[in-house]
Amino acid sequence: MLDQCIEALAIKSDGVYVDVTFGGGGHSLKILELLKGGRLIAFDQDDDAKREAEKIQSRSFTFCHANFMYLKQYLKLNGVTKVDGILADLGISSHQIDSPSRGFSTRYEGPLDMRMDRNISRTASSVLNEYPETTLHKIFGMYGELRNAKTVAAIIARERVRKPFTTTEELKNALKDVAPRGKENKYFAQVFQALRIEVNDEMKALENFLHQSGEVLVPGGVLVVMSYHSLEDRMVKNYMSKGKVFGEVEKDLYGNEIKPFTPVNRKPIEPSEEEVKQNSRARSARLRIAKKL
Ligand SMILES: C[S@@+](CC[C@H](N)C(=O)[O-])C[C@H]1O[C@@H](n2cnc3c(N)ncnc32)[C@H](O)[C@@H]1O
Repeated sequence: MLDQCIEALAIKSDGVYVDVTFGGGGHSLKILELLKGGRLIAFDQDDDAKREAEKIQSRSFTFCHANFMYLKQYLKLNGVTKVDGILADLGISSHQIDSPSRGFSTRYEGPLDMRMDRNISRTASSVLNEYPETTLHKIFGMYGELRNAKTVAAIIARERVRKPFTTTEELKNALKDVAPRGKENKYFAQVFQALRIEVNDEMKALENFLHQSGEVLVPGGVLVVMSYHSLEDRMVKNYMSKGKVFGEVEKDLYGNEIKPFTPVNRKPIEPSEEEVKQNSRARSARLRIAKKL
């Protein structure tokens, strides 16, 4: 949904924009094409994304090799306090998924790593081998939406005593008997997704980012977020309409709602059939847009 994202940002050629998920740079390059006198600040916590960003030779472009949960701080470091638009294309990039050594993919044998930022110490194997069974149960239920999360947690707790988990194949083998027949790929994708979200503390990063986006956008500025997981989408939806990722909108003494945004579209924009045919990852994408009040 590259075109819809760019359209939603309604780029002014001299405006200041932020792409908090640079990845392979697809969205950033498109934004840069539309700038004349404006500025783009991009973020990514991944080393490979940083290398990709270093190839861009443009005075309008600044790259921050950082977690987007520090949005405000890094903008300030770069002399920026207010921006006209922010784009977030959440989750992992095709480059990360397609690199077996990163451990994100259910398709390849690889180490149980799953870190976007390889400087953090928590990995998928440390989560599997060290977390209490009850926490694993919660993670697989909440982030993976697995119906048999309790069973999965019990199997992991039992198997890791015999041999700690180190590879993606070992994890799949341990769970193959509890994966629904004929739906193994989807099931393992959910297991891997849950681990990835926990390893990278994605929900906390998203919550911090959303709050800061409200602080740095100018009135009328646009927030564009593409998410791939229902929990993420719910947080984005709630923040855009209520100013909080969970719970109800707050009101002042006079009953006026205190919220930084108004949603542009009530329902999320979903990919076309054509796009899903070309890129199966797009299947679960949900695009939400909001305007700063
Ligand atoms: C779906 S990809 C973005 C693809 C990009 N829009 C493009 O056109 O190539 C998501 C990217 O965001 C990065 N990312 C995810 N969460 C992040 C976070 N909290 N802080 C910084 N980067 C993050 C990932 O490392 C990944 O490269």
